[in-house]
Amino acid sequence: MKAKVSRHAHFNAAHRLNVTDWSDAKNKEYFGPCNNSNFHGHNYELIVSLTGEIDPTTGYVFDMKELSDIIKLNVESRLDHKNLNLDVPIFKNLNPSAENISKVIYDWLRPCFNSELSLKIKLYETPRNFVEYGV
Ligand code: NI
Repeated sequence: MKAKVSRHAHFNAAHRLNVTDWSDAKNKEYFGPCNNSNFHGHNYELIVSLTGEIDPTTGYVFDMKELSDIIKLNVESRLDHKNLNLDVPIFKNLNPSAENISKVIYDWLRPCFNSELSLKIKLYETPRNFVEYGV
């Protein structure tokens, strides 16, 4: 059996959802307020989970202090208090939807962990809307 450990983090960021190939009217209709041309913010809640064997010596799957530091260094420092469209290069040509933000976070974090650990990202864009990415 494996155990799953999770760390809860958060960041605040602004974004705008827009497909450049679409007309303004189509973007407005599809994305609604998330298409607001002057951007808008969300309080994102992030849960990073690692699943793996319990180390027989330490009793840990992963050191939670280290996990917290990894999230700060690789995610919060890049996204917190940023305008995702303007300040974060990867979103220059990638719509910063919760789905894409989750995938980007996964891709940033995956190299930080041993391949024997499964990584899952859960990202709340609002208290009621969230995305899961990974296993
Ligand atoms: Ni939005």
